[in-house]
Amino acid sequence: MGKCLSWKYFSLLLSLLFFHSQFPFSSSLSSNSQCSALLHFNHSLSLHRRASHCGYSYPKTGSWKEDKDCCTWDGVVCDNSTRHVIALDLSCSWLYGSIPSNSTLFLLRHLRSLNLARNDFDLSLISPEFGNFQSLTHLNLSHSRFYGEIPYEISQLSSLVSLDLSYNGDLMMTIDYQSKHQFGKESLVTLPRAIPTSLGNLTQMIYLDLSYNNFNGLLPSSIFDLPNLSVLDLERNQLVGPLPNHVSGLNLLIDLSLSSNFLNGTLPSWLFSLTSLMKLTLHQNQFIGEIGEFKYNNSLDYLDLSYNMLQGSIPSSISRLVSLTTLDLSSNNLQGSVPSSISRLVNLNTLHLSSNNLSIMLDLELFSNLNVFNFSYNNLLVSINNNLTFTLPNLTELYLSSCNISEFPIFLKVATNLGSLDLSNNRIYGQTPEWLGAVGRNSLTFLDLSHNFLTSIDKIPWKNLYSVDLRNNLLQGPLPTLNALSLRYLFASNNNLSGGIPSFICNASSLEVLDLSHNNFSGTIPKCLVLSNALSVLDLRMNSLNGSIPASVSCGNYLRNINLNGNQLEGPLPRSLENCTNLEVLDLGNNKINDTFPYWLESILELQVLVIRSNKFQGHISNPKAEFPFPNLRILDISNNDFNGPLPRKYFKYLKAMMNVDKGEDGLKYMGNEYYHDSLNVTMKGLNIELVRIQTIFTTIDFSNNSFIGEIPQIIGSLNSLKGLNFSHNNLIGYIPSSFGHLTNLEWLDLSFNKLDGEIPKQLEDLNQLAVLELSHNQLTGPIPSGKQFNTFENNSYTNNLGLCGFPLTRTCNNHTSKLPTTSTLQQENNLEPKNGFGWQAVLIGYGCGVIFGTLMGYLMFKIGKPKWIVRMVKLEQHILLRRLKNNARRSGGRK
Ligand SMILES: *[C@@H]1O[C@H](CO)[C@@H](O)[C@H](O)[C@H]1NC(C)=O
Ligand SMILES: *[C@@H]1O[C@H](CO)[C@@H](O)[C@H](O)[C@H]1NC(C)=O
Ligand SMILES: *[C@@H]1O[C@H](CO)[C@@H](O)[C@H](O)[C@H]1NC(C)=O
Ligand SMILES: *[C@@H]1O[C@H](CO)[C@@H](O)[C@H](O)[C@H]1NC(C)=O
Ligand SMILES: *[C@@H]1O[C@H](CO)[C@@H](O)[C@H](O)[C@H]1NC(C)=O
Ligand SMILES: *[C@@H]1O[C@H](CO)[C@@H](O)[C@H](O)[C@H]1NC(C)=O
Ligand SMILES: *[C@@H]1O[C@H](CO)[C@@H](O)[C@H](O)[C@H]1NC(C)=O
Ligand SMILES: *[C@@H]1O[C@H](CO)[C@@H](O)[C@H](O)[C@H]1NC(C)=O
Ligand SMILES: *[C@@H]1O[C@H](CO)[C@@H](O)[C@H](O)[C@H]1NC(C)=O
Repeated sequence: MGKCLSWKYFSLLLSLLFFHSQFPFSSSLSSNSQCSALLHFNHSLSLHRRASHCGYSYPKTGSWKEDKDCCTWDGVVCDNSTRHVIALDLSCSWLYGSIPSNSTLFLLRHLRSLNLARNDFDLSLISPEFGNFQSLTHLNLSHSRFYGEIPYEISQLSSLVSLDLSYNGDLMMTIDYQSKHQFGKESLVTLPRAIPTSLGNLTQMIYLDLSYNNFNGLLPSSIFDLPNLSVLDLERNQLVGPLPNHVSGLNLLIDLSLSSNFLNGTLPSWLFSLTSLMKLTLHQNQFIGEIGEFKYNNSLDYLDLSYNMLQGSIPSSISRLVSLTTLDLSSNNLQGSVPSSISRLVNLNTLHLSSNNLSIMLDLELFSNLNVFNFSYNNLLVSINNNLTFTLPNLTELYLSSCNISEFPIFLKVATNLGSLDLSNNRIYGQTPEWLGAVGRNSLTFLDLSHNFLTSIDKIPWKNLYSVDLRNNLLQGPLPTLNALSLRYLFASNNNLSGGIPSFICNASSLEVLDLSHNNFSGTIPKCLVLSNALSVLDLRMNSLNGSIPASVSCGNYLRNINLNGNQLEGPLPRSLENCTNLEVLDLGNNKINDTFPYWLESILELQVLVIRSNKFQGHISNPKAEFPFPNLRILDISNNDFNGPLPRKYFKYLKAMMNVDKGEDGLKYMGNEYYHDSLNVTMKGLNIELVRIQTIFTTIDFSNNSFIGEIPQIIGSLNSLKGLNFSHNNLIGYIPSSFGHLTNLEWLDLSFNKLDGEIPKQLEDLNQLAVLELSHNQLTGPIPSGKQFNTFENNSYTNNLGLCGFPLTRTCNNHTSKLPTTSTLQQENNLEPKNGFGWQAVLIGYGCGVIFGTLMGYLMFKIGKPKWIVRMVKLEQHILLRRLKNNARRSGGRK
């Protein structure tokens, strides 16, 4: 999405700054002391190429020679007559080190211009000595890793015309002047970090750039009174509070950037009466209220008020901004229809109005010069009068997602230079019109027609497409041929596409994501596939592919996800997969693959998800060959195969990613990237649950429906991050290991349909996240543990065992001293069916806030109805709530 400022802006700015930064050259010798001060300064720093992030850079000081007059040195300028060093430009000079207050730099008292930008001053403080350059007009310390407060002395540089301290990340200014030198880095953090009012003293200031730092506190209104200010850039700080209601000065202001702060309140009217203003960006703040009336303003070129909370309608006085080329009002709460007067903005070429509640009638030659038009997500009907032959000949980007439109807009016909077209999430039905292919034939690179009702696309003639999204339509027949060479993202999932995997895919050497899942593609996987070195996701799940996975499969360095689930693939697994060293997800479930356990995948360091469920895998799982097998595996599903022999104890010992997982303080993280979210089906108690996104702390093991024999190894207890464990439907014998008590994150445990005997270990009472327990069809005996979760499990968790007793079974334990729940608790249990509105939704919210059981809902986004075990959790939660309520009632009652 292009947002461009006109050349006018730049040329004006350039002339302005150039005028102020011209310095005379000198041919005469300057005094020795200045030269040695410069040399000392240079020696106090070292040179590191990586200290400068610049397009082109070299160490200017590299050519400084002691025997030469320093006025001739690179970056040094002296006054012709006085021979004083008056300008020093060491930007992009690879300088690394700190500048302490006793640096000889500060001996150059006659400096008028000092530029040290784009070096690395190693988080050193800005010395107050900078305030002693009495003649300084230009100071640039941007992009230089300075740290800490900006000394008050800077605001005494009364001649300062330009101050650029941008991009120092952690810079802050203190208003606590007394404390200016005394603080170390730690205590600085706690100081108020406002921009001091005293900057308002710098009445000569033309250019003030404090962007990309961490200033917080209120925005000082004194800055807005600087009479000569042309550029004020405070973008990306943490400034709060409203803009001043009145300003004096700012008559020369050209550029005002306050984006990405926490500024609030309404927009003052002076904003739209600044006669020189060319660029105004208030993007991403918390401004409220209506936009207000625009005054006549023939210089404003770029207006960005996006990502605020502005309300009301777009005033028709917007047409007074006759020079406007870019208007961005997206992501606000604007309503009503877009005023037709906007058509008078004849220079407008970029218009972003997405994510509001606006409506528009696209039937006029509203925007004949428009290049970029974004009206997505307004949730209102966009009327397009397809009867009129109006044209938008200059259109290059059109975004009309979620606009409720039902036809391809005819005005596209003449959009011969279209580059991006997004018509996703609409109601467009049937075939694509014949003329569509001519739209941007040589220019279209981005095409999103997903989530419509398209039944066929004849041709995809565009030569330069790099992203094509056709997901969730009704497309049938073969996938139309695409020009493979430019293709990087191809999404065509959830259609009825059939035929073979098209062969053009094999030439797609830049392809990064191929998602053809949920279609009817048949035939074999072409041998040539997966050759693309760029490919990161290959998703062919839920099709009808057969044959074996080609042995020639070779992975590029970026291949992260292979999903072939739900096909009819057979034969053995090609060993070449072992070379997919960056694979994170391998899902081959629900096929007919006939092989032994692919232990050779164990050395893929990145592998996090391995699903081979419901295939024809067989045999013993022997000991790992690698020293640390599967070091990052978190989801292991080998269920529904013919594995036999004992459970692979040695593997359990090393599944590091299932132990001591740090939940992470920076919130939920999901697998995948911006373009493709990894998703997966897991089975819990026979229910197929779709993880639409996979949280990186989600860990499960499913070995169910195989023929494993022998005992459950104690070592399982060390996999203490497990959320789910399923060993059901095997031939396991022996006791349930008491070490299971360490699995404190366990939410479901299924050991049913085995031959386990002995008692249920009391340690299981400690599993306070456990929501599902399945122990039926074993030979367990003795009392069922009681309390906590165990009050919530029902009979069928335990049916068909030899001799279990105690709650919830009717059989009481005679020889044991197990505590039975009291009758009143039992009654509560029974009265807690979700009714009177407290149910599913409420619990979802409850979990979202992490109330009692951890955040199960955080990583499960359910596609299924209300599973029974959730109902059970609802009950438990209500139970606890009720008890709390009662306790509270009792306590307050007692006080009376
Ligand atoms: C300084 O000298 C240079 C070169 O001789 C000349 O171009 C420039 O105009 C002089 N500046 C002043 C201010 O005299
Ligand atoms: C500056 O002071 C430090 C000690 O604070 C000293 O080590 C260093 O030599 C001094 N540098 C100069 C140029 O005087
Ligand atoms: C600078 O500004 C501050 C606060 O606005 C004021 O108190 C002070 O007198 C000013 N100093 C000078 C030298 O103008
Ligand atoms: C603006 O933000 C400040 C500081 O966060 C707050 O005190 C004030 O109430 C806010 N004003 C409005 C109108 O939201
Ligand atoms: C729009 O296209 C026409 C014809 O191609 C051209 O003359 C005009 O300059 C373009 N306008 C803009 C703003 O690009
Ligand atoms: C377009 O033309 C059709 C039939 O010619 C008519 O029914 C429809 O109302 C017209 N649409 C508009 C917006 O004028
Ligand atoms: C894996 O890659 C190595 C080196 O490129 C190659 O020698 C080896 O044959 C490959 N292994 C398989 C099973 O393809
Ligand atoms: C698996 O493959 C082996 C050897 O290729 C064969 O003997 C066996 O019958 C196959 N098993 C199944 C279930 O297809
Ligand atoms: C999960 O299984 C269902 C039913 O088989 C299927 O429709 C869905 O696509 C699967 N989801 C994933 C992420 O594999």
